[in-house]
Amino acid sequence: MTDVKQEIDSLRHELAEHNYNYYVLNSPLIPDQDFDMMMKRLEALEASHPEYFSSDSPTQRVGADRTEGFAQKRHSIPMLSLSNTYNYNEVEDFYRRVAGDLHNEPFRVNAELKFDGLSIALIYEEGVLTDAVTRGDGLVGDVVTANVRTIRSIPLKLRGEGYPSRLEVRGEVLLPFKEFERLNSEREEKGEPLFANPRNAASGTLKQLDPKVAAARKLDAYFYHAIDTPELPDSHFERLKLLRQWGFKVSDAVTLCSSTTDIYAFLEYWDKQRSCLPIATDGVVLKVDSIKQQKRLGYTAKSPRWAIAYKFQAEQARTKLLGIDYQVGRTGAVTPVANLEPVPLSGTVVKRASLHNADIIAELDLRQNDYVFVEKGGEIIPKIVGVDKDARLLEMPPIEFITHCPACGTPLVRTEGEAAYYCPDGATCEPQQKGRIEHFCTRKAANINIGPETIDLLYRKKLIHHIADLYRLTEEQLTSLPGIRERSAQKLLASIDSSRKRPFHSLLYGIGIRFVGETVARTLTQAFGSMEKLMQATEEELTATPEIGPKIAQSIRVFFDNADNRALIAQLADLGLNFTEETKNVQSDGGLLAGRTVVISGKFHRYSRDEYKALIEQLGGKMASSISGNTDFILAGDDMGPAKRQKAEALSIRLVSEEEFWTMIDESDEKTMKEAKPDPDPQTKSDYLGDLFD
Ligand code: IVH
Repeated sequence: MTDVKQEIDSLRHELAEHNYNYYVLNSPLIPDQDFDMMMKRLEALEASHPEYFSSDSPTQRVGADRTEGFAQKRHSIPMLSLSNTYNYNEVEDFYRRVAGDLHNEPFRVNAELKFDGLSIALIYEEGVLTDAVTRGDGLVGDVVTANVRTIRSIPLKLRGEGYPSRLEVRGEVLLPFKEFERLNSEREEKGEPLFANPRNAASGTLKQLDPKVAAARKLDAYFYHAIDTPELPDSHFERLKLLRQWGFKVSDAVTLCSSTTDIYAFLEYWDKQRSCLPIATDGVVLKVDSIKQQKRLGYTAKSPRWAIAYKFQAEQARTKLLGIDYQVGRTGAVTPVANLEPVPLSGTVVKRASLHNADIIAELDLRQNDYVFVEKGGEIIPKIVGVDKDARLLEMPPIEFITHCPACGTPLVRTEGEAAYYCPDGATCEPQQKGRIEHFCTRKAANINIGPETIDLLYRKKLIHHIADLYRLTEEQLTSLPGIRERSAQKLLASIDSSRKRPFHSLLYGIGIRFVGETVARTLTQAFGSMEKLMQATEEELTATPEIGPKIAQSIRVFFDNADNRALIAQLADLGLNFTEETKNVQSDGGLLAGRTVVISGKFHRYSRDEYKALIEQLGGKMASSISGNTDFILAGDDMGPAKRQKAEALSIRLVSEEEFWTMIDESDEKTMKEAKPDPDPQTKSDYLGDLFD
């Protein structure tokens, strides 16, 4: 080995040790400056010797820029939820049921904290972190490895020995309260929208496409589960100990209980003590300790029978109501938000609380200067749950809901049977216009990589008023704005450009017709196939579609009967947005891939993994999740894992790149392809909007 390689190896080893001491054990052994110096030295050596690159080097915690969205990965075992209990009786029911199902065989229960963050699955191959996948829908999640590498308490390489050659651990990514407060006050200073709670902030951070942003936000992660492999001991408690030895942060708040009395003692202790923890917890998880017994107890469709969550009662705080702000959303709905005298609650300082609508204000009989009780219901912004009426000094008049839009002054309207007041001036009311653009750009809609701040800036500079304007932006316009450089302008324009090719259902969802969520959008595009047909559909035709009721049908008609909306759709069509849905006919006999088994791996540029899966199936191919002797070829994107690559090599299976795949398709029969490609090239307006706008 060369001297340089030796120095690199020893620096990597030492830095990993210091990382572990600092972030997992919370007991640093050297001053920060020394650590920084070693890191700089390693960075310099690696830069001048790229041949020694290694993805598990401590320098790789801050990844390179990424512009693509996230690839998706199917979980080896679904990420399930737990059934919840809220009182000791329900805990006792669980305990008895387990005892009965195990025919009164002795068993023990692990009590541990329930962390309120985002679940993550980490995969280690030969001790090296290869993939980090979010929970997603429980079956398929986003691959967020680059961001997860930035979390200092997560080992890039396992410590010690004895770990299985493939280890999958599950845990929770969290943003410590302190970091959350720091991040929000930074955002407040910059005039950026605040995160509602540490969990949202952690989620927003993990979904950042640029890992440098994640790196700056100091996430933490606790681990509580290892996917079963034969090498692991039978006891969950012992498994947690091993995870600790291999370098994971595992909470010390774990106790083996042999009776409900033991369990209640744990619940009582942590119900109080949790307010001293640096991170959010929302309960306790109780798990039968023996894996053999867990297997005998099995699963229901949604959750294991061998575990339950006990949810803590939400903590409450009392504070003074200072006033009420009214916010206008993209649909025009006006939401009241209470401004409060800042008060600490569950680890953060609460300054605002949601009031939902006028009825809630009336029900609480809220008055100016009232002292109110606030609670953090498991989610989002805290809510006001009551008024301390004894503390009223002066009898103030009840708070009246506003009558005019706070943004544009239009009189508000309230439809019978609906809780919210609306500003009916959708066309020019600023927050509605901006809100609609923001919604259109979200990931599940047009997936344009732009934040609310940039949208706000473009709006203020009068460059965008509605979504069609996005497609007319030029590089010169963007670079003339403060803080937008050439490179980010180009990135944004590329992202806007590629959004034209998004599936029709995503774009339809993005347009933001009331009651047309993602699922309804899919149903509609499947039923009508094109924007033209959808626009012409009568209420009767719409309600004849499965899942589409009169409320949705009416809302769709109202939308398309509006001349402004029709003009907008016409513009979008002219701008080349994909307003047709691909045909779903499976070509099982004679498709290009008939009888072929294909494995997809890595990240792709032109289409998402799901789109490729659908395409392969349409072409008659069969998808497989793992490589075997039956695999005909692997559709290989970027960053395919080393283990898969080796396996493919060992079995001499061909790797087909994204570009090669398209060449393969383009060279095949023209007609076949026309029907099957997700979106070969958007048709011109005259093809599918007919004479509607001529
Ligand atoms: S065990 C098969 N342990 O809670 C059971 N989950 O509602 C695997 N969570 O998806 C989960 N702390 O995201 C387990 N100590 C803990 C946990 C925990 C938080 C989360 C996890 C899970 C959800 C279930």
